[in-house]
Amino acid sequence: MSKKTAGTFSSQLGFVLAAAGSAVGVGNIWRFPYLAAKDGGGLFLIIYLILVFTFGYTLLASDIAIGRKTQKNSLRAYRLLHPKWNFLGILTFIVPLIIMTYYAVIGGWILRYVAAYCTNEGAACAEADFFPHFISNPASSAAYSIIFLALTVFIVYKGVESGIERCSKIVMPLLLFIVIAIALYSLTLKRSDSDGTVRSGIQGLFFYIKPDLRQLNPKRFLQILLDAMSQLFFSLSVSMGIMITYGSYVKKDVNLNKSIAQIEWFDTAVALLAGLMIIPAIYVFKGMDGMQSGPSLIFVALPQVFASMGKIGLLVAPAFFIMAAFAALTSCISVLETIVANFMELLHTSRKRTCIGVSAFYFPASVIIALGYSLFYVDIPLPNGSIGQLLDLMDYISNSLLMPFIALLSSILIGSIVGYQWIAEEFCHNGCKMARKHVYAFMIRFVTPVVMCILFLQAVGLFNK
Ligand code: PHE
Repeated sequence: MSKKTAGTFSSQLGFVLAAAGSAVGVGNIWRFPYLAAKDGGGLFLIIYLILVFTFGYTLLASDIAIGRKTQKNSLRAYRLLHPKWNFLGILTFIVPLIIMTYYAVIGGWILRYVAAYCTNEGAACAEADFFPHFISNPASSAAYSIIFLALTVFIVYKGVESGIERCSKIVMPLLLFIVIAIALYSLTLKRSDSDGTVRSGIQGLFFYIKPDLRQLNPKRFLQILLDAMSQLFFSLSVSMGIMITYGSYVKKDVNLNKSIAQIEWFDTAVALLAGLMIIPAIYVFKGMDGMQSGPSLIFVALPQVFASMGKIGLLVAPAFFIMAAFAALTSCISVLETIVANFMELLHTSRKRTCIGVSAFYFPASVIIALGYSLFYVDIPLPNGSIGQLLDLMDYISNSLLMPFIALLSSILIGSIVGYQWIAEEFCHNGCKMARKHVYAFMIRFVTPVVMCILFLQAVGLFNK
């Protein structure tokens, strides 16, 4: 198959860090700790860990192997798997196209907090209306999105090796260092209430890792399982063509089987450490009722926690938001790279021209989404029962609706039409255990289609009460 021209990763480490950069994103920070706290602490952790190396491996291996074997991006790759399944490539390409409209907006929110904590505005962030005020201010929310997007475009424009790989090699170790440092600090926290009760970080740690066996009834267990699967699925950046594109940049002598395990370890370690960083801190300063998910956790609850830490909070807070900005940046880069690479392949254009063309669309698009909290404010009822703004709508279509649907179709394609060997051959190219192939075959043929079907039905609101 013809070699692609978009670029290649120079080493296995470069590839692993870039792919881990895509996987580690805001989901690890604002969703994983919330789910762990809600879904029985250690019970959720055990289930999640088992799923990572069975279910997660299957999804990630499929995408990466498709990329390396075909040397194409999603638009072209599925056609090579089966000419009649070209539509799946198109569907897969739609996901990053949608995500890109809003990811820089989230990145811009994080940048706003980095700026606030690195100047002397930090104290204001702890006020409950700081965040709503900021996102409903059209000029500043648009400006921060533009800065974040410009940064992303710049790195993608620099190319695979000197842009993405180089950036990941600097940013990812730093990110890991900051998460470990804050997690360790979180464990040392202690506070006594006015009534004399003392709450410590270590108690928070027990809350996080102790399995809550009361949740071991069939109904709760099923919910925990679904939560863990949807989190894992989102966290690994699969079924949106990103890992196909990154896979296509990997040289043939790289051991995919090992790389996949390393990417999963990195992503899971950051998720576990995020829990270690956030749960004890929330437990000590707010009590577990203060545990939230999504933007309200990192933009409202955590700034209040940082304010309660006193002087040291002024050090922890900027470190936390810089770390979150790194996580969002490397994810955003992977989304934009996937779009650029697909267009380069489709239109035979240069990286520079493609970046300019794509930017001409996404700068205005990001501004429109950012203004969804001010000038273009609308309340949109979503089929899963929630009400959201433009950003939530985009997120819902791409992550809740399209991704499980794509994973469902691609597991049918691989498991029942092309055959699992087609993929297994590629990820075992430089050696792997026989058991690996068996687990993969079982997962892709039987487990993945069923799970994806359930997640999809859940997204369209079939299980709403
Ligand atoms: N995997 C990222 C996370 O866990 C999310 C992401 C979504 C990354 C879309 C890239 C594209 O936050």
